[in-house]
Amino acid sequence: MRLDHPTTGAVPSDVIEPRHDLTYASDAPARDRYGRRIDYLRVSLTDRCNMRCVYCMPAVGMQFLPRPELLSNDELILVLRAAAGVGFRKIRLTGGEPTLRHEIVALVRAIKAIPGIAHVAMTTNALRLRQLAGPLREAGLDRVNVSIDSLDPQKFRQMTRGGSLDEVWAGVRAADEAGLRPIKLNAVVVRGMNDDEVIRLAALTTQYPWEFRFIEVMPLTGVAGLAEDGVISSAELLARIAAHFGPLETYGQDPSDPARCYRIPGAPGKLGFISAVTDPFCATCNRMRLTAEGRLHLCLLRDDELDLRAAVRAGAGEGEIAQLIRHAVDVKPWGHGLPEGVRPTLRSMSQLGG
Ligand code: 5AD
Ligand code: SF4
Repeated sequence: MRLDHPTTGAVPSDVIEPRHDLTYASDAPARDRYGRRIDYLRVSLTDRCNMRCVYCMPAVGMQFLPRPELLSNDELILVLRAAAGVGFRKIRLTGGEPTLRHEIVALVRAIKAIPGIAHVAMTTNALRLRQLAGPLREAGLDRVNVSIDSLDPQKFRQMTRGGSLDEVWAGVRAADEAGLRPIKLNAVVVRGMNDDEVIRLAALTTQYPWEFRFIEVMPLTGVAGLAEDGVISSAELLARIAAHFGPLETYGQDPSDPARCYRIPGAPGKLGFISAVTDPFCATCNRMRLTAEGRLHLCLLRDDELDLRAAVRAGAGEGEIAQLIRHAVDVKPWGHGLPEGVRPTLRSMSQLGG
């Protein structure tokens, strides 16, 4: 599927000024001006991480936010209550690594208790899940997505610059046992690094009832060079997997799921392909992001943001914040501009959490 709608100007508009002159009916569903229903918020809880994946962070030179720059738990809950008020129903906690956030279990419990929030998931590297899976589940977390780029401990350590595959695998098992299901595993496939493991990774779905998703590497700040040379299209991966396992079955598609789903015949698990670069899914986008310091980031691959922390710290109440969020939904860009050569420059993936 190609973009079937013009992008809204090739040049990103960077930081969006809040509009105080607009009012919106508070009971209207949050639809953007293209009619997309925006009900999924990905929330970065910290920009820090205990790994340094090659496609996410540079090896050295990362600058992390000082703690006072982050939204406090109380500030975050206020923002999420306002988001629920304008129709956000699903929250995904991301990072950096969200389990490094102070008081993560209590925070999950508080988010899950917000009226209107139906689903709380987390994208994690699983290094801390062995200890935390049970308590997180008990606090109301519904599901986790975990990155596993390689099944070879040496290569895993290389790609994550220090991560332990054993520890991650123990975390995935703990998540499964705790009922954080269905487990979804992600691999970002980089040519010349882990593309030789695609068959082995896909074969996991013949053993486990998990979804394994292959993600095209995206050109975020800090890793754009690697992305330019390293991207392997989902079409190529699909062809390689089908050549090995035989023709894949297609699988019922949730329109707002960016992954195209398939199954190896007879396998208990599913395969997913996320092709943000070669086959954008902007037409069915249902999401926005909140950075750890409280900026609404409107499209992963553009720089447009709206500063909610400034409003919160200036004393705005839930209703005023809800108006700002609705305005952000209203001005959400149509889609990214990768085909036209527009690259985001403001944020690294570790500040946005995928
Ligand atoms: N391109 C695509 N996905 C990425 N992720 C991190 N960096 C990139 C990138 N450059 C994804 C990883 C991880 C999640 C946090 O973000 O899959 O699971
Ligand atoms: Fe950390 Fe995830 Fe980025 Fe890897 S991809 S460095 S685990 S935030």
